[in-house]
Amino acid sequence: MSPLLSSLLFVFILPLYSSSCFSSSTDVILPPLPYNYSALEPVISEKIMILHHTKHHQAYVTNYNKARKSLEDALQLNDLPTIESLQGAIRFNLGGHLNHDFFWKVLTPEKQAVPLPADSELLTKINCQWGNLENFKKEFNKRALAIQVF
Ligand SMILES: [Fe+2]
Repeated sequence: MSPLLSSLLFVFILPLYSSSCFSSSTDVILPPLPYNYSALEPVISEKIMILHHTKHHQAYVTNYNKARKSLEDALQLNDLPTIESLQGAIRFNLGGHLNHDFFWKVLTPEKQAVPLPADSELLTKINCQWGNLENFKKEFNKRALAIQVF
């Protein structure tokens, strides 16, 4: 893909990903969490949620918007070296924004969790692989705890 085509993709197509995450311009905005910072305790602490939302996610949003604006300026000037130099920052920061946005949406406080429907494809596959949901949870937790973070 040419740098120009790639730039156009980043500036005009990817912001269409989620209208709830974008203001009236093409800037991305920090979406509010769908629950309180402490809602996932004791699994994820309030302190960690605040850090990831207000620091990590906000930094991705701020830096993506800054890079996107620079890219728009460079596109106006047809400044190909600058356009190409901004690709990494745009990819990294938009990726960080989208990953965090996805992260917030897939987590749910336990009291709001909805059980898998008995006839769901996912539950069928879990039962096939691990016998039942409880066995899957035990194995998942065992394997997750074995992961070493360096
Ligand atoms: Fe984070």
